[in-house]
Amino acid sequence: QGPCDIYAAGGTPCVAAHSTTRALYGSYTGALYQVRRSSDNATRDVGPLTAGGVADAAAQDSFCAGTTCLITVVYDQSGRNNRLTQAPPGGFNGPAAGGYDNLANATAAPITVGGHKAYGVYVAPGTGYRNNNTNGVATGDQPEGMYAIFDGTHYNGGCCFDYGNAERNSRDNGNGTMEAIYFGNIKVWGYGAGNGPWIMADLENGLFSGINTRYNANDPSIGHRFLTAVLKGEPNHWSIRGGNAQSGGLSTFYNGARPNASGYNPMKKEGAIILGIGGDNSVGARGTFYEGVMTSGYPSDATENAVQANITAAGYSTGSGSGGNGLTPGSTVSLRATTAGYTDRYIHHTGSTVDTGVVADGSSSTEKGNASWIVRTGLGNSSCVSFESRNTSGQYLRHRNYQLYLNANDGTSTFTQDATFCPEPGRNSQGTSLRSVNFPDRLVRHFNNVGYIANTSGSNTFDNPNAYDDDVSWLVSAPWAP
Ligand code: AHR
Repeated sequence: QGPCDIYAAGGTPCVAAHSTTRALYGSYTGALYQVRRSSDNATRDVGPLTAGGVADAAAQDSFCAGTTCLITVVYDQSGRNNRLTQAPPGGFNGPAAGGYDNLANATAAPITVGGHKAYGVYVAPGTGYRNNNTNGVATGDQPEGMYAIFDGTHYNGGCCFDYGNAERNSRDNGNGTMEAIYFGNIKVWGYGAGNGPWIMADLENGLFSGINTRYNANDPSIGHRFLTAVLKGEPNHWSIRGGNAQSGGLSTFYNGARPNASGYNPMKKEGAIILGIGGDNSVGARGTFYEGVMTSGYPSDATENAVQANITAAGYSTGSGSGGNGLTPGSTVSLRATTAGYTDRYIHHTGSTVDTGVVADGSSSTEKGNASWIVRTGLGNSSCVSFESRNTSGQYLRHRNYQLYLNANDGTSTFTQDATFCPEPGRNSQGTSLRSVNFPDRLVRHFNNVGYIANTSGSNTFDNPNAYDDDVSWLVSAPWAP
């Protein structure tokens, strides 16, 4: 059984079913997505390994070996041909030729599902998919439901990382002409508790976190590495729900009447489908999509709860490499600080100097690369990890006299030990802490924005116990430079 079998049994069948990671019907054996390689522009469909199973990532890997692949199509498994392709220009132009949006790099979001390798859709700002000529998707005030699985660590404050119902002409056609799931931390329209990111509803000219146009306290900040985001709407009634796609159930963050603003009741949905962009082709947002569906009819909470159980059973993971903490050898990550006031900083190098630097969408590609690390099997201990610079191959994060540097691997055991760190749960209950393999009482820390390995008992200034647990806890995040 897949999520769409559950929706069908609940009387609210899928009218669109998109995933690059797995089949969403138990009997589905068709293509999941198509990739195009740059070497000769040839394309190849990737299907599931078995009926209803996980994507055949090895087929992509062999087709794309030695070249770059982009995701050109995310097929619709519902049989309605509501596939997603490169989004055309609309109210705003995308950065690609003719004002189209960019296509996603096919290898930028590697994960495992049920132990099998798979790839998600990595949406950097400028990337977008769309279908303006759909079949069976809700229009006007018709009822619909939808869910999507996102990477809850990959978001921004740009407009608008959406999945769902939008305008058929890629333009802003006024309040109520969209009904899409939004994920990110933009505060231009609505927002919820904390600093975000939030799941909200993009209903056009407004992201809504509840009944109020701005703040709704019941919509929490939510950042599970694998995040289930749910939205549904019917006449003068809608709901936002969400949960951890790896375990547990769904919580309801809003369930009630249409917002206190004119133009959203009745709705004027148009039935196009977008991924990674706003309704008017705003392309400022980032995020990662793994799977999502849209239904005909307003699904019951019980149906969605059964879908969530199917999702958690599917076994989304960052890989088995090191306890599911995201530090899978071969993947590229950014390591974000968790100390309050410094959460816009990432472990970063300038030449051989290692610090925590502020990195944002507007940062240069060099800066993004300097804050991105390829995870390697630990040079000095294969059950731990090393971090190779994304920008400077052959150079690794290492400590010397307790300070962190970026240096070339000279093959000595001093170097390989100095460059090996053993991940463990973050000391402040967030993310991951990184223990030095040869100074096991010391963890990777930032102090005055400089990188060290530190403890709380040493005599160095950076061994200061104040804020230690926060300074040594790192969120393994989607890479700034995939
Ligand atoms: O509703 C928020 C955004 O506003 C929509 O996605 C976009 O069409 C408009 O710019």
